[in-house]
Amino acid sequence: MADESSASFPGPRADIGVTGLAVMGRNLARNFARNGHVTALYNRTQSRVDELIEQFGDEGDFVPSTDLKSFVASLKRPRRIMIMVKAGKATDAVIDELVPLLEEGDIVIDGGNAHFDDTRRREQALKAKGLHFVGTGVSGGEEGALNGPSIMPGGSKESYEALGPILESIAVAVDGTPCCTYVGPDGAGHFVKMVHNGIEYADMQLIAEAYELLRQGLGKTPAELADVFRTWNEGDLESFLIEITARVLDKTHPGADGSPVPLVDLIVDAAEQKGTGRWTVQTALELGVPTTGIAEAVFARSLSGSVDQRKAVQAAGTLVGPTGGSLAGAEAEGFVDAVRDALYASKVVAYAQGFDMIQAGSDQYGWDVDKGAMATIWRGGCIIRAQFLNRIKEAYDKDAHLASLLLDEYFAAAVGNAQDSWRRVVATAVRLGIPVPGFSSALSYYDGLRRERLGAALVQGQRDLFGAHTYGRVDKPGTFHTLWSGDGSEERQDAH
Ligand code: 6PG
Repeated sequence: MADESSASFPGPRADIGVTGLAVMGRNLARNFARNGHVTALYNRTQSRVDELIEQFGDEGDFVPSTDLKSFVASLKRPRRIMIMVKAGKATDAVIDELVPLLEEGDIVIDGGNAHFDDTRRREQALKAKGLHFVGTGVSGGEEGALNGPSIMPGGSKESYEALGPILESIAVAVDGTPCCTYVGPDGAGHFVKMVHNGIEYADMQLIAEAYELLRQGLGKTPAELADVFRTWNEGDLESFLIEITARVLDKTHPGADGSPVPLVDLIVDAAEQKGTGRWTVQTALELGVPTTGIAEAVFARSLSGSVDQRKAVQAAGTLVGPTGGSLAGAEAEGFVDAVRDALYASKVVAYAQGFDMIQAGSDQYGWDVDKGAMATIWRGGCIIRAQFLNRIKEAYDKDAHLASLLLDEYFAAAVGNAQDSWRRVVATAVRLGIPVPGFSSALSYYDGLRRERLGAALVQGQRDLFGAHTYGRVDKPGTFHTLWSGDGSEERQDAH
């Protein structure tokens, strides 16, 4: 408990400071204090500090401050200051206020969901002033922040030496290993957190597709489906997202007439997003990595949110086609298991694409991110925590340079064994008119990777015809162009 003397004591005795005490910042501050770190507190609106001390002051040793200057003065050197404000302009504003008060070697930590480009810019600016800037991903929501999140810190290696042990102490541990490790320089931590969120979107979309298929195709009730997801949570699919899916499906609230209605039927079917999934896709496009699972998930949220357009289509009633319908007999037989297989295979693809993207970002920015270590710190604390991450860790332990997760022996077999079910499920969905952009794009990606020849040869021919963009040939080296509007002969275009 912060006693009176600590509140007024101006000397530097805090191990870490947190500014921005909305729910995430408050819970992280409590987590630091609960783990024995003297924790300095500052918030622009003083009442947040007072409330924290009043309600939770006995959880550890807090040093509250009423102004930024005394907050900074209360910290031991190198000062470690965690900013937990809404990502964007607010972060820059806090940094601008803080920097003049800091000294060489101090560490400013941004635990918000910042764009990694902003983190790169901020890191450069602070480095020029002799300060460390650590952009860190923090996953696990409010509960994780308090009881053990997964933490993905970037920045300089040197800063990790002073900061890492404190962060590791508040992260959740799986099999004795903390879900926190050094990710890489400048924006690496926030990049990896962004991809984590993209995978989160993909995983949630796939689960929603599985739900829709079983609900529409087999006419199962939300309560029955809660049981299905609970069973799935005992196998390969065991994960936080599957677990909470069962909880959501089980929940009822009184409907208009007071009788219990499944909550899922009362919720407006327009999925929102704060933007990290979109950033992932934008970045993937720039890096040229086909993260189709994440892209389909972001677009599916956008389609669901196009409420006026959807209403107009409903009202017009002119877009014909099947809208569900129950499977029976042989078609229904084994369908639940088939959907489970399709979900698992699609999930493997989404994760494989996400890890490819981490590699591409790491190559582009020279971060040297250890993908196996990322799988390790995602095993607990974060939203995508899952048994499955152990498998990914093992795959990268065996071969850190695996060209695709799908090539790992375990995953190749898992996806190969699932593929008949996967095709059955996608074909059934298409026939019933149930949209499954996640399942079907994952299957197309899988088939695209497998094929020896792709239709891209024709695309190259088209490009050459209308724009003289040239093509390569399978039978000889060089770059070629056909004289489409001339005599139809072929010219070699590169110097030879
Ligand atoms: C986490 C989450 C979190 C994210 C929310 C909401 O790792 O704890 O990823 O950071 O902000 O899940 O994201 P959307 O509003 O974009 O769905």
